Amino acid sequence: MTATSGSFHIGDKSIDLPVKHGTVGPDVVDIGKLFAQTGMFTYDPGFTSTASCESKITYIDGDAGVLLYRGYPIEQLAEHGDFLETCYLLLYGELPTAVQKADFDYRITRHTMVHEQMARFFQGFRRDAHPMAVMVASVGALSAFYHDSTNISDPKQRMIASTRMIAKIPTLAAMAYKYSIGQPFVFPKNDLDYTSNFLRMCFAVPCEDYKVNPVLSRALDRIFILHADHEQNASTSTVRLAGSSGANPFACVAAGIASLWGPAHGGANEAVLKMLAEIGTPERIPRYIAKAKDKNDPFRLMGFGHRIYKNYDPRAKIMQRTTREVLNELGATDDLLDVAIELERIALHDDYFIEKKLYPNIDFYSGITLKAIGLPIEMFTALFAVARTGADSALHRDCDSADR
Ligand code: CMC
Repeated sequence: MTATSGSFHIGDKSIDLPVKHGTVGPDVVDIGKLFAQTGMFTYDPGFTSTASCESKITYIDGDAGVLLYRGYPIEQLAEHGDFLETCYLLLYGELPTAVQKADFDYRITRHTMVHEQMARFFQGFRRDAHPMAVMVASVGALSAFYHDSTNISDPKQRMIASTRMIAKIPTLAAMAYKYSIGQPFVFPKNDLDYTSNFLRMCFAVPCEDYKVNPVLSRALDRIFILHADHEQNASTSTVRLAGSSGANPFACVAAGIASLWGPAHGGANEAVLKMLAEIGTPERIPRYIAKAKDKNDPFRLMGFGHRIYKNYDPRAKIMQRTTREVLNELGATDDLLDVAIELERIALHDDYFIEKKLYPNIDFYSGITLKAIGLPIEMFTALFAVARTGADSALHRDCDSADR
């Protein structure tokens, strides 16, 4: 990043502030000295015009519908790579060679088990606990189990913490699911890839073999890639803020998971399914479209619109295709899926949604896909947490750089 100086006028005052030029995207005014020079603060609670850090990880151009991880378009990564390749890219800044990828896969796979005492820790939860409540608690609790990787000023410990987090979070998410349905935990299996392993940990039972369907595994892997990072979003900002005090990575990621839980963020795909259930049948859709348009009604169509993508969400395009692949593979028929398909059709042709650029977002399609795969809606946000961990641990690993 380079910097020049710019002159600005506020009222009758003229001030000089540094203007920074990134490798891509708009210039930014460095307002660090604004208060000293003018006695004024800035006000931008939603970070709509504010970059909270210098970062080399992710770039979004919402108007053009562009999402890049470390300079690579999301379409390329989702089409040709797998989730662990994306994690490697986010962590190290470059795509791995074949040897590096094999080594990374090996390292992650060998860390997928959790301390056996974690299993007993689970017994303290009520059976009906929401998986996100379990995730916040169990990911935070990792810091009580892995003391040798909590010092973020040690690069080696940061890398071990990142590896552990990427490897163990699917295991914890699957355990949260198994616990909620009263089935025994399934240990990870090292000869399976990351996502197939996760599906097996969710759906296998000791009395029966479970064969992973590659179409479903690929679809879920793609969901993980598409959710791996999204710049300065609420959960990532939370991890950064928690980490700025030097707190350990497990505790910071637990804070990020808490932030992700909200319906305006990671909880949206769960909210989509709940909304589809409330609508119930395609005939009732017009009533809900009218509610969404009514200024006096707080109801919004869940899964439509995006704070940043005002043209289209590139992730939604990939996800739309993936959703079709899964539905075709399963020959799925389901009332909620019928409602979803009809809702998508109507909203894409309705003037209100077209004028306000309210396109279906990624959560609309991922919710439908996850439901078709057989995952209960309570698990949806937990899966988002699995995906986002790759990037959030990259924030911690890179803590010597401005990406921290
Ligand atoms: N249904 C009906 N109207 C909507 C919707 C919607 N889903 N979203 C926005 N609008 C209307 C809103 O009422 C406003 O109308 P007006 O200009 O007449 O006041 C206009 O569109 C602009 O809305 P906004 O709230 O200023 O837009 P925003 O960019 O601040 O909000 C959003 C973005 C995602 C919070 C919002 O579109 C929304 O609540 N969507 C539903 C929830 C959802 O799907 N969230 C997941 C987003 S993707 C998550 C991620 O990437 O992690």
